[in-house]
Amino acid sequence: MRTHYCGLVSESDIDNTVTLYGWVDRRRDHGGVIFLDMRDREGIVQVVFDPDTESAFALADRVRSEYVLKITGRVRARGEGTINPAMATGSIEILGKEIELLSESATPPFPLDAHHSVGEDVRLKFRYMDLRRPEMQNNLMFRARLTSSIRQYLDGHGFLDIETPILTRATPEGARDYLVPSRTHPGEFFALPQSPQLFKQLLMISGFDRYYQIARCFRDEDLRADRQPEFTQVDIETTFLEEQEIMDLVETMFRQMFRETIDVELPEFPVMTYADAMKKYGSDRPDLRFGLELADVADLLKEVEFNVFSGPANDPKSRVAALRLPNGDQLTRKMIDGYTKFVSIYGARGLAYIKVNDLAAGIEGLQSPILKFLPDNVVLNILDRVGAEDKDIIFFGADKAKVVNDALGALRCKIAEDLNLYAKKWAPLWVTEFPMFEGEGSNWTATHHPFTQPTGDMDAMLADPSSVLSRAYDVVLNGIEVGGGSIRVHEMEMQKKIFEVLDLTEDEINIKFGFLLDALKYGAPPHGGLAFGLDRLIMLMCDSNAIRDVIAFPKTQTAACLMTSAPSEVDPPQLAELNIAVKKSKI
Ligand code: AMO
Ligand code: AMP
Repeated sequence: MRTHYCGLVSESDIDNTVTLYGWVDRRRDHGGVIFLDMRDREGIVQVVFDPDTESAFALADRVRSEYVLKITGRVRARGEGTINPAMATGSIEILGKEIELLSESATPPFPLDAHHSVGEDVRLKFRYMDLRRPEMQNNLMFRARLTSSIRQYLDGHGFLDIETPILTRATPEGARDYLVPSRTHPGEFFALPQSPQLFKQLLMISGFDRYYQIARCFRDEDLRADRQPEFTQVDIETTFLEEQEIMDLVETMFRQMFRETIDVELPEFPVMTYADAMKKYGSDRPDLRFGLELADVADLLKEVEFNVFSGPANDPKSRVAALRLPNGDQLTRKMIDGYTKFVSIYGARGLAYIKVNDLAAGIEGLQSPILKFLPDNVVLNILDRVGAEDKDIIFFGADKAKVVNDALGALRCKIAEDLNLYAKKWAPLWVTEFPMFEGEGSNWTATHHPFTQPTGDMDAMLADPSSVLSRAYDVVLNGIEVGGGSIRVHEMEMQKKIFEVLDLTEDEINIKFGFLLDALKYGAPPHGGLAFGLDRLIMLMCDSNAIRDVIAFPKTQTAACLMTSAPSEVDPPQLAELNIAVKKSKI
């Protein structure tokens, strides 16, 4: 029987005999004495074998990295010079007495402590080995602690954990669906849920009042570091609450989660409208760990001859904005060229700048390739607008509003990262009052999803969809959208009109959403909720750069599993049974 996890043997066990099970992390031979670092999920402990215990010593001499052993020995304090403060168990060691070989290991595909030396593809192919690394073990153990804390909170607040189907009909959340062919209905397909959105709304209509689910969601979309094709949402829905009440509930839960699991006291979440977020940060998920706000300067540039600025300044769909970087004089020409290239990813055609060497000297104190194109008074007004100070550099974006927002929004984050400008470790906020629809003409999509309640009445919405805001709210943390929710439409007529704005025909509405419209006829209560991305949140809490590092068996950037080689071709009989013929074409 195991008496201790390897990583949990401590000074209080000194002189006791312990039995451990674990993996050989490292074996060292020090002049006739063998040291085995034994590892399990709780950590590592050093076991020493000396030649006095003959048979144990012989076996210890033979074992290699990743062998699985049972070891019994006596705990003792380490000698003065041999204490290892970097190790949790570094003040003790175990004098090994008995050793039993439980499993041998072939040479590992990569040394666990040198995982950087191999590509991520090797780590993913041998994921079960990669997961032995303490960092990965800690991430997944943290994940379990966090979900436990979430469940406790939600259970304690009257939320019921109710499962919803995985084989279902498409739920529009803006991505492509993963489809599953039906054998019993030839030519027909299930869709895997992009979220449990409609089911949770139906549960509210059924009267469960408060629902939650730690739900797997599936989205076939372009992958990035913070996206996976299957990911986990903490999905929540309630009846009869207004947005502020739902936001308070979620905010309290976040604060409790952070306190309980990583001992962090989150600040109050400020609330920012979408319009403000775009204006100040060029993004609907602003990173508030640092300042660097954008300032609009179009009004100052309408008359100038420099067309790069005056063109967008006179176009209502465009924007001219400035980004002031205090102490930007430290940027070299090469760095500025790098940033110019960086913003071009977002479609920016250039990155004009002004360096402020000596503000008191007026125009003479400035350095910039665009000064010659601008009247002095305009330049001075711009400096005044952005609150320029000595040593600043001011960057400019002038283009369609989306290009400027994307480019300068990303640039401020890039600069903050490069120059480590973070003033806070944690910066949560709510973003509210999103536009209900995006698009133009007769081509509209729902900014969130089409079940979100618009503000204002139906006539205004039909007359000009772009003018309508929605009762949606996103939780943003450190520049990442961790969650989103809304008050939902609970009136059948309104829901139907929204589908009409989205250009669905009567037939399409009935086929795709007839069941929802029907349900809305039978006493649907006002309701709302939110879902947050568990993987993204854990990534932030574990200080990881990729959600792949907090998911046990993630997919690659091309949505494949290198370990199991999924997706894979299937046997012809299986396809025949599903009435499917495969026609291969290049993607
Ligand atoms: P939304 O689409 O905003 O809302 O998703 C909610 C949260 O889920 C996370 N998320 C993802 N995480 C990893 N990989 C992905 N591909 C991925 N896509 C989304 C994000 C996001 O904020 N039904 C609504 C919620 C509601 O209205 O209640 C929904 O799914 O952190
Ligand atoms: P040009 O006249 O194209 O050589 O541009 C003069 C300066 O303006 C250069 O510093 C460019 O990087 C910058 N610039 C050009 N187009 C834009 C733009 N759309 N937004 C911001 N700066 C620009």
